[in-house]
Amino acid sequence: MKIVDGLKWRYAVKKFDPTKKLTTEQINYVKEAINFIPSSYGLQPYKVLEITDPQIRAKLKEAAYGQTQLTDAAHVFVFASFTDYNPAKVEEFVNLTAQINPMPKENSDGFKNYLNSMIAGMSNEQLAIWTAKQVYIALGSMIAAASEIEIDSAAMEGFDKAKFDEILGLKEKGLASAVIGAIGYRSPEDQNQFLKKVRKPMDQLFETI
Ligand SMILES: Cc1cc2nc3c(=O)[nH]c(=O)nc-3n(C[C@H](O)[C@H](O)[C@H](O)COP(=O)(O)O)c2cc1C
Repeated sequence: MKIVDGLKWRYAVKKFDPTKKLTTEQINYVKEAINFIPSSYGLQPYKVLEITDPQIRAKLKEAAYGQTQLTDAAHVFVFASFTDYNPAKVEEFVNLTAQINPMPKENSDGFKNYLNSMIAGMSNEQLAIWTAKQVYIALGSMIAAASEIEIDSAAMEGFDKAKFDEILGLKEKGLASAVIGAIGYRSPEDQNQFLKKVRKPMDQLFETI
């Protein structure tokens, strides 16, 4: 499907068919779409956790007010953003960049210094907001790529973030859960699939200046 056709076809799944699984190829396609979407400076200041353990999924469902997508979707991603983006991470990123696109040392040092001072200029709270914003771009890519290959999805931010962080041990890793992305196949019983899309008329959403 073309991307816009996919986006018109998809809807926010409430009830997945727990018997339907995805192939490794399908999962990898969506993972590539998550990986190749851009982020600010290319830093990808997040981790994408793939939750496969059924017991952990059950715990997460409880922490997400019983939303069954957590247990019934074929694949569940928790997008977690870095709460600290320290110089060690900058170093790792710039080294990776220089390895892929070799550059003189003074350039990579300059890039490192620039990134470090940009990050140092943010409060912890600003940094957490900035990294969490990056994650939503990756989530959008997940949704679009899944729909392109006719895989259903659900984005969820209705969950107790502190409980998720505790269950997944994220604090110790300098991460905070931001949003969930579940993919799989809709249940024929999910009534939401029969609803018409509610979107603003184009001339209300867009304004020419
Ligand atoms: C970031 C984000 C978070 C959402 N969180 C939830 C959620 O926790 N539970 C839920 O049932 N739907 C959730 N939704 C689904 C939206 O309500 C839904 O996408 C919206 O109403 C538009 O409907 P459509 O996706 O079917 O076109 C979320 C969607 C997004 C993009």
